[in-house]
Amino acid sequence: MPGIPVDLAFARREVRRAAVRRDVIVVIDVLRATSTIITALSNGAKKVVPAQTPEQARNLWRENPGSLLAGERGGERPDGFNLGNSPREFHPEVVKGRTIILTTSSGTKTILAVEKAPHVLLGAFLNVRAVGESARDTARAEGRGIALACSGSKHLFSLEDFLCAGAIASRLHEAGEELSDFAWGAVLAFENLTEPLDQAIWKCLHARELKAQGLAEDVEFCSRVDHYQMVPALTPEGIKYSYFKCAKC
Ligand code: MLT
Repeated sequence: MPGIPVDLAFARREVRRAAVRRDVIVVIDVLRATSTIITALSNGAKKVVPAQTPEQARNLWRENPGSLLAGERGGERPDGFNLGNSPREFHPEVVKGRTIILTTSSGTKTILAVEKAPHVLLGAFLNVRAVGESARDTARAEGRGIALACSGSKHLFSLEDFLCAGAIASRLHEAGEELSDFAWGAVLAFENLTEPLDQAIWKCLHARELKAQGLAEDVEFCSRVDHYQMVPALTPEGIKYSYFKCAKC
C-alpha cells in the first residue's frame, strides 16, 4: 500500500491550500493555543469556540450564556475576559462542562483559516502521539493526505511548532508514510536535537517572550510530551474532545 503523503504548511496561504486539497489538517501552536485547547478539553470543557477577534469573542460570549471568555493579545488577557491563554488556568473546577470562547493572536486564526477542511485536528507536544495516530487513521480510512499546519507567531516561523511537526512526522515516517522535503526537514531538526527538548524550546523566541512576561511555567507545561491521550477536532459547533487510545500508549 503506498504511504500517505505528509506535508508541512507554515504560511497561512499554504495552510489554506492544504484545506483546498482536502487533507487531514493538524494545526500546531505549541505556545500556547493548541496546548491550551487540549488542556481545557482534557479537563472537561464542553467545547472551545474559536473567534477571530476579541470583539467577535465578546459577541459570541453574549450569545452563549454560561460560557467563558478566554484568550490573549500580546500574551495578555484582554479587558473583561474571564481567562487568558495559559493552559494552567483551565483547571477542571473552572472549565468542567463549560463552553469556552477563545481568541488568540495566531492559533485560533490558523484554525479558522481551515475551518472548511474535512478534518481539522489540534496537536502539540502534549498529545503528539495521539494526534499523529489519529491523523493517520483518518487519512488512511478516507484516502487523504496529511498537512501539519504550523501556526507560528505574529506571521513568523516558530521553531517550537516546527519541532512538534517533526515529532509527529517522525512517527508517521516510522509507520511507512511518505514525507515531503519540508516534513523531512522538521524530522531532521527534531531527531537531531543535541539537547533535551525542553532546553531546545527555551531557545525559541516565543518561549523567551513568555518567560519575560512571567509565564515560564506555561513553557514548561507545554513542553511535556504525550501528557494527554486526546485529540481535539473541529466540528461545526466548535472544537470538541475526541479520546484516542494509542496502540502503544
Ligand atoms: C497565539 O495564538 O498566538 C499564541 O497562543 C500566543 C500566546 O498566547 O502565547
